[in-house]
Amino acid sequence: MLQTIDAIASLSSIEQELLEEFRSQVDLDVDPYIFLPLWLFLSDGICRLHGASLSVLTDTEIQLLFAKVMFSELGDGEESEIHSKLLKNLLCKWVAPKFPSVFDVNDDVISYFNATVKQITQATESWVVGFLVGLEVPALDEFNMVISSFMRMGVPEEALMKARYIEIHQAIELDHQEAGSEAMEKIKAAGFSMTEMREGGKAAIEFLLHMIGSKGNLLSPLQVA
Ligand SMILES: [Fe+2]
Repeated sequence: MLQTIDAIASLSSIEQELLEEFRSQVDLDVDPYIFLPLWLFLSDGICRLHGASLSVLTDTEIQLLFAKVMFSELGDGEESEIHSKLLKNLLCKWVAPKFPSVFDVNDDVISYFNATVKQITQATESWVVGFLVGLEVPALDEFNMVISSFMRMGVPEEALMKARYIEIHQAIELDHQEAGSEAMEKIKAAGFSMTEMREGGKAAIEFLLHMIGSKGNLLSPLQVA
């Protein structure tokens, strides 16, 4: 039986605050025809967010924590295991035949994403760590949305259970979240601004809510063939 993940690693108070902020605004019933194209776009672009962040971070230990998350998104160096590729495979098999535009998003989404990458490169180190932490905080909730979207699209549970994309994410999301928590501890110890970190985290939550269709004006429903 495919189970959604409910466990939350021990979160710092800022992380809990960010998770509450996310949960108070997320639309868990977002239309899969809106959610899945956005999720693929975000998945494809996630390393650009990490890369922009690494251009700001100066602490090598914190760089390492987030570089590991980025490397994991890139399949730990295995091209066939790149997460966005695994997601694309799943979409090609089960969604694209009846919904070919699952691979498309509109210019507003692209501009919004690009503006966020630019914003990261111009932010302070504390803000950037907060942003990266905020990016990971709702990961389990989002993953549960991925599962429910595929199921609502009619993908058999057995096929989902066997899908590499699902298998990998059931195992690693907690690791990613823990990297965020560890970075939070390190940056606190290094004396960075908690106010800026919180602002960066809130910016990440706002960004994610847009990027998964919970702030509906960014992406209108695409056409189903
Ligand atoms: Fe991933």
